[in-house]
Amino acid sequence: MTRALGLVAAGLVLAACGAKTPPPPTPEQALALRPANARLSALYETSCHACHAVAGTGAPGVHDRAAWDPRWKQGEAVLLDHVIQGYKAMPATGQCATCTPDDFKALIRFMAGREDSAT
Ligand code: HEC
Repeated sequence: MTRALGLVAAGLVLAACGAKTPPPPTPEQALALRPANARLSALYETSCHACHAVAGTGAPGVHDRAAWDPRWKQGEAVLLDHVIQGYKAMPATGQCATCTPDDFKALIRFMAGREDSAT
């Protein structure tokens, strides 16, 4: 009985470790991705999209979890600050003059592939 429980526990640990980072979208998929919300989609289209949906710009690509995960670990407050102030090759406000802080947070969540989860 104890042994059986041990095997179940080992199986759970293996299952957790087996959860792989989803593959990044293809370049075509990345270009076509949009936030579900119409307002956010319009803001994204005229700002972040120009760099974050295009390969080779140096920007972490939309829904590319491998590119975003290390950045996401900094925390949302730091990411928001980097968007508003600018960060290295990332221009201040991401060229979105009409975005509110909440818009930026939602756009970051969308691009980082975290629309549905807090992790
Ligand atoms: C002109 C190109 C460009 C535009 C437009 C742009 N970005 Fe970026 N962004 C970049 C680049 C390049 C980086 C990578 C900076 C680095 O780490 O060198 C970046 C990085 C980021 C990061 C990660 C910062 C960090 O701390 O790692 C966030 C968040 C971000 N952008 C959000 C946005 C949002 C939101 C928009 C739209 C409102 C946007 N960006 C528009 C080029 C752009």
